[in-house]
Amino acid sequence: MTANRRPLFVANWKMHKTASEARSYVAALAPWLARPLSGSIVLAPPYTALETVAGALKQARVFGPVALAAQNVHPLSDGAYTGEVSIPMVRELGCTYVIVGHSERRILFGESDAWVGEKTRAVLSGGLCPILCVGERLDEREAGLTESVVLRQLETAVKGIEPAGELVVAYEPVWAIGTGRHAKPVDAGSVHDAIRCKLKSLLGETAASRVRILYGGSVTPENINSFMKEKEIDGALVGGASLDPERFFTLIHNGLEAGESG
Ligand code: PGA
Repeated sequence: MTANRRPLFVANWKMHKTASEARSYVAALAPWLARPLSGSIVLAPPYTALETVAGALKQARVFGPVALAAQNVHPLSDGAYTGEVSIPMVRELGCTYVIVGHSERRILFGESDAWVGEKTRAVLSGGLCPILCVGERLDEREAGLTESVVLRQLETAVKGIEPAGELVVAYEPVWAIGTGRHAKPVDAGSVHDAIRCKLKSLLGETAASRVRILYGGSVTPENINSFMKEKEIDGALVGGASLDPERFFTLIHNGLEAGESG
């Protein structure tokens, strides 16, 4: 973590929690947020809980430090696309972030690099911040292709975007997601270095230095400190460990503490 970028912790709930479960989660999380935090939090519930979470955050008066993300969007603003959800729809519900190109979407739903790029540009032009996920599969890692895969995914999505918009990148090795087998922080740190370097060539020094690069993949309250000590790791994208509010808050707390001392 570097002092000039505010650490960010994103809870990706995936297909978990009904609207009423989401309301209870915010009610349980809110008391821990009563004191100011040196980091930012983003909650990414399923679409069906977005409005409830927005309302619960407002009621708990924590909408400033806690922002809302959609887990996916369609790049067009409307049309005959049964089952899809557009950027204006999630923006109106209070979303300021959108997760784009998560490996579950790439692998299980066939999203190509080009499609992820279209979404990234659409999210930015819709005035929201993409949380662009990149990461290699196990076979790619074993073939020594980690950097080339990650940088290809990054370049296809980021090339040609306006450097002025806010962007978050999440490095998530596919083999580390939901497996309990996280990357070695030093290995993740060197992929983050490569991502920062590529961003500089694509966006210029100033814009690249503002981008927060998160690590994701089996992050827990127990291992977050070793990630936050890496210079280019600015926070985490958290799946399983974000589903329980106390565990998620402990993770944030431990991460901020380690980042400040590291
Ligand atoms: P995990 O998921 O923390 O459960 O490994 C991370 C993610 O998929 O974003």
